Amino acid sequence: MTLHRIPNPRVLKEEIRKSHERSRRFGIDPNCVVDPGQARLTSHELAARVERMRTFFDVAVRQLNELDTITSGGFAMILADHEGYILSILADPENRARLARINCAEGFRWSERDVGTTSIALSLARRIPVQITENESFCRRGRGFTNSAAPVFDDQEQLLGTVVATGRAEQVHPHTLGMMITAARAIENELRIRSKSRELSLQNRSMKAVLESIDRGLIVLDREGRVVEINDHGKAVLKGRDLIGTSIQKIARRGIDWEALLAEGGECVDRELFLAANRSAPVQAMATIRPIRASATGDVSGFVMEFDEIDRIRKLVNELAGSHAVFTLEDIIGVSPGIQAAKRLALKAARSHSTVLITGETGTGKELFAQAIHTHSERKRMPFVAINCAAIPRELLESELFGYAEGSFTGAVRGGRPGKFELASGGTVFLDEIGDMPMDMQAKLLRVLQSGEVTRVGEHKPHPVDVRIIAATNADIRQSMRRGGFRQDLFYRLNVLPIAVPALRERPEDILPLGVHFLERRRRTLNSPVRRFTREARAVLHGYAWPGNVRELENVVERLMNIVDEPDVGPEHLAFLEGKASAAAEGTALLARAERQTIADAFHATGRNIAQTSRLLGISRPTLYKKLRKYRLSDRV
Ligand SMILES: Nc1ncnc2c1ncn2[C@@H]1O[C@H](COP(=O)(O)OP(=O)(O)OP(=O)(O)O)[C@@H](O)[C@H]1O
Ligand SMILES: [Mg+2]
Repeated sequence: MTLHRIPNPRVLKEEIRKSHERSRRFGIDPNCVVDPGQARLTSHELAARVERMRTFFDVAVRQLNELDTITSGGFAMILADHEGYILSILADPENRARLARINCAEGFRWSERDVGTTSIALSLARRIPVQITENESFCRRGRGFTNSAAPVFDDQEQLLGTVVATGRAEQVHPHTLGMMITAARAIENELRIRSKSRELSLQNRSMKAVLESIDRGLIVLDREGRVVEINDHGKAVLKGRDLIGTSIQKIARRGIDWEALLAEGGECVDRELFLAANRSAPVQAMATIRPIRASATGDVSGFVMEFDEIDRIRKLVNELAGSHAVFTLEDIIGVSPGIQAAKRLALKAARSHSTVLITGETGTGKELFAQAIHTHSERKRMPFVAINCAAIPRELLESELFGYAEGSFTGAVRGGRPGKFELASGGTVFLDEIGDMPMDMQAKLLRVLQSGEVTRVGEHKPHPVDVRIIAATNADIRQSMRRGGFRQDLFYRLNVLPIAVPALRERPEDILPLGVHFLERRRRTLNSPVRRFTREARAVLHGYAWPGNVRELENVVERLMNIVDEPDVGPEHLAFLEGKASAAAEGTALLARAERQTIADAFHATGRNIAQTSRLLGISRPTLYKKLRKYRLSDRV
């Protein structure tokens, strides 16, 4: 700063001359030694002024004290503010008394208008360092002194004040001014550092506040991948004591190759990691790492890593995907002994951990039972994840169930993904339409059931999973087992607690209660006038075979609610069922013809050998006898 150069002697002479001119214009008396009217602050005002410029005052006074020690008290040191008020004087008692005689004491104002040309006045008026000898002082009060003053500025170049060394006239030396300039600079530097560090500490505090306000784990890493900062949530997840300075590669046990990550630009999104601090058990987490770039150069100066425990994500996913059971046993309507028995079994199943196999025709309520078992079990607060084995493409089923490892097949999102079994951890997996599971998957599922561990596609290391399995099928699984379409060992493994839900036509006493139940439920939402089924209508409902079971009944009631606009549902409203019934009867006849033909062919092919025919068809001998009799294929049986 040019403001801090020792002025050229000629320039200084000129400045002093001009200052004298100004002093004369201000009407200052050159013979004055003490001006009784000189502006002065009360001690109270002085204290208030010092308080307003506390930092400047403290820093400057300390600096002057240091100078005082260095010069072993040869000078009196004066600190004045930008208006010329003397804030502080450092002097031995003798010097202090000498200065006091000319009003040079704390609280007096020493501007050019007050005292004419002095070092304080001129350094402030012209914002330059000045040295004033006794002859250059405008008034007589300067006699006997040589003063060196250097102004002090803040980082906005605002004048803060001036620091002055006052000595006896014979002590005059140009170095004294140099010393004061250095002191002024030292004060400015310290003020700058303090304001920077205040700024930094504010930034630091706000950064900490931001870090802590986020309820995910957050770690700030330096360029080498060492932990610089970690928020409380992150510490809690990692159960880590002091992780500062630890390399991320020590914390992320698997799934992170720092070199590779850097090569990719230091960024990865939703990568699955296993994080562990010290010797604690690794926590499965999903993490996103992003580089922090220096704004000026764009260079990477560190990284931010956000992470969430998988358990939390799992919960979130399950909440979003609606992976929870809603039905209870009370939602299963039915008075028939068949449905009551199934409900009793379901309650037993809820209290056990064994695998349940629910069988029943389509629409009988298998999923309803599966959910009810879950909601009555101690896993009720955990996920209920349903998978329809028939609906998922064969080649995706394994990864859907068991997850996959990073980069295990094309199209896979970078980074691994947990499968449904892992997502259901602690809860229940409902394997619907298990009868349609391909053979190779059956083998894999069996292994999972036996070991309690899943292995992701593309990985070798199995993960333990704690899930309860409920399977369901509407296919005759025993028959497909006999034909070799379903593994026997898996069947026995699943069939620990079998629950057979009877078809609706096998429990006609449930038809009306279910019909009324659906009518009531729909009536409210649709605001329909329909109130009841007439006796004739009930007869029609009872007489119908309900191939689609409860689901069909539910749909029929829904349809009635839309077409009937009177309280009573009569048989005329149910005429459409007749058509359905005859179509169904036709279907049955068609099936019967096909069955007869199949049996006849097999019987013929085996040379009418009962044992061989029953094996070939996959039906028991008594059944074969029954069918042969029914279709009149043999007179001998
Ligand atoms: N006993 C019952 N009480 C009340 N509602 C029932 C009952 N049984 C079935 N339902 C209802 O019938 C519909 C079909 O039930 P669900 O989906 O459980 O059948 P499912 O046996 O799984 O059929 P599918 O084999 O076709 O999948 C559902 O809307 C269900 O709520
Ligand atoms: Mg179902």
